[in-house]
Amino acid sequence: MIRNDGHDGAHLRDISRAAGIPIGCAVDVDVLRQSERYREVVRREFNMCVAENHFKAPWVWTGPETYDFSSTDYLADFAIKNDILLRGHALIWHSAIPSWLENGSFSKEEVRELLKRYIQALVGRYRGVVSTWDVVNEAIDDEGSCPWRDTFWLNTLGRGYIADAFRWAHEADPTAKLYYNDYEAEDLGPKSNSVYSLVRELLDDTVPIHGVGYQYHLIAGWRAGQHNRDCIQRIVDLGLEWQVTECDIRIQLEDADDVSEKRDAQAEGYWDVARLCRTLPRCEGLVMWGFTDAYSWIPGFRKGWGEALIFDEAYAPKPAYFALRSALCDHSVRSVAICI
Ligand code: XIL
Repeated sequence: MIRNDGHDGAHLRDISRAAGIPIGCAVDVDVLRQSERYREVVRREFNMCVAENHFKAPWVWTGPETYDFSSTDYLADFAIKNDILLRGHALIWHSAIPSWLENGSFSKEEVRELLKRYIQALVGRYRGVVSTWDVVNEAIDDEGSCPWRDTFWLNTLGRGYIADAFRWAHEADPTAKLYYNDYEAEDLGPKSNSVYSLVRELLDDTVPIHGVGYQYHLIAGWRAGQHNRDCIQRIVDLGLEWQVTECDIRIQLEDADDVSEKRDAQAEGYWDVARLCRTLPRCEGLVMWGFTDAYSWIPGFRKGWGEALIFDEAYAPKPAYFALRSALCDHSVRSVAICI
């Protein structure tokens, strides 16, 4: 099933355009500034990108009403110049709160007002430039019994902060697509049920939400099943779109002998993710959490794991790259000249 079709001239970006699904990666903005080699691959292969960290609040929101837009501006310029769609990640995330805010002694009303100004400053600055915002990231608890994750935002503002954030973002840019984003919600189960209930409730309350982001941080050996399709289809049935927002497929590095076998298993996983996008309705992007194993969050966060991306540390394409490229072509559905 995994083929290198030998169409060496076609890059993911070209295939993606023909397939109608933007293909993207997270970028480290510091590396992007420094390395022409890194920039060259992003320009050549991708037509969507997202900052791995530099759009998060601790980087941008330097004080109650002071903002540092230097890195966000840099990435926005790069995206515009290279005709790359820009995702904004993430306006609200429990793991990225500026310390002056978390450790400050602001009242509930003050935090609410500051958050509104922050969201509107950032979203307003990139009005018409950021195509999709992850407005709220990972607000659902992993257990499922209590659906809400215990966070600074929930404790300070109550659960109404979610609807508020979507409304504020929409006011600042009515053209941007606004997403709820989470991990391990790709399967049917308690967590994805909570995501489903949340977005259905938001829609019932006429909150401007347009899509759900599925992170897809996976382990080599994973294959897609009907439950993955059902999970997405029920979101689509609500009238929402969806994106794969942070895909990587990690390999356990303990036993270096079988790395090449694991790379093949990883390639099958990437193939499956691309086929979900290709065959289910309303997939508006397939974004990976990086592109080269030289810069990936996995080794730092998952000890003993790595090799999660489609290019190796020397920027050579891995089997996963060819699997992805091949899976995006669908010879039976439409004729895509570059895929033949
Ligand atoms: C991660 C980055 O990759 C790391 O560099 C950073 O230290 C922590 O955040 N889910 C998300 C992303 O939504 O924002 C996280 O990114 C990875 C998990």
